[in-house]
Amino acid sequence: MNIRVDKSCDNVDWSLIPEILKLGGMGYFDTETHKKAFENSYTTVFVYDNDKLIGFGRALSDGMYQGAIYDVAILSQYQGKGIGKLIVNTILESIQGCNVILYAAKGKEGFYSSLNFRRMKTGMALFNNAEKMKEKGFTE
Ligand SMILES: CC(C)(COP(=O)(O)OP(=O)(O)OC[C@H]1O[C@@H](n2cnc3c(N)ncnc32)[C@H](O)[C@@H]1OP(=O)(O)O)[C@@H](O)C(=O)NCCC(=O)NCCS
Repeated sequence: MNIRVDKSCDNVDWSLIPEILKLGGMGYFDTETHKKAFENSYTTVFVYDNDKLIGFGRALSDGMYQGAIYDVAILSQYQGKGIGKLIVNTILESIQGCNVILYAAKGKEGFYSSLNFRRMKTGMALFNNAEKMKEKGFTE
């Protein structure tokens, strides 16, 4: 493995974003939608093994006191090797001093607790696809 982190959106094969999200059991859109979402984000992190994209994550932020992390996913054969932690920590470094929120997929809460995130008690969400998100266990 020759792992490297790149925060630039240049030279990304955007078609791999929905593919890796889908493989990770996460929600995904068409390629162009992901390209715009990443390009419009405050922080983007892409991890490569040589030139192969193997994982990524992104954050929205005001750069001052609030941030939110989205779309953290790693190809299954690279999971459990500290790459998720590397992605989240790289994002956190870029938004130091901010409160950071995210929604963890069911069963992934332990990953975020290992990075010192705590379960929120008063989180509220207005999802586009409210029924589906309820079925997936994100809301009551
Ligand atoms: C969840 C995910 C991002 C974790 O990335 P990863 O590279 O496998 O995790 P790491 O190897 O960096 O693990 C970091 C720590 O979290 C722990 N951890 C990882 N996944 C965990 C889980 N599902 N439950 C509990 N702890 C977990 C590891 O044991 C490790 O602990 P340590 O620091 O004490 O050794 C990755 O498994 C993934 O992409 N899954 C599919 C997509 C997904 O569900 N994304 C998250 C959506 S919210």
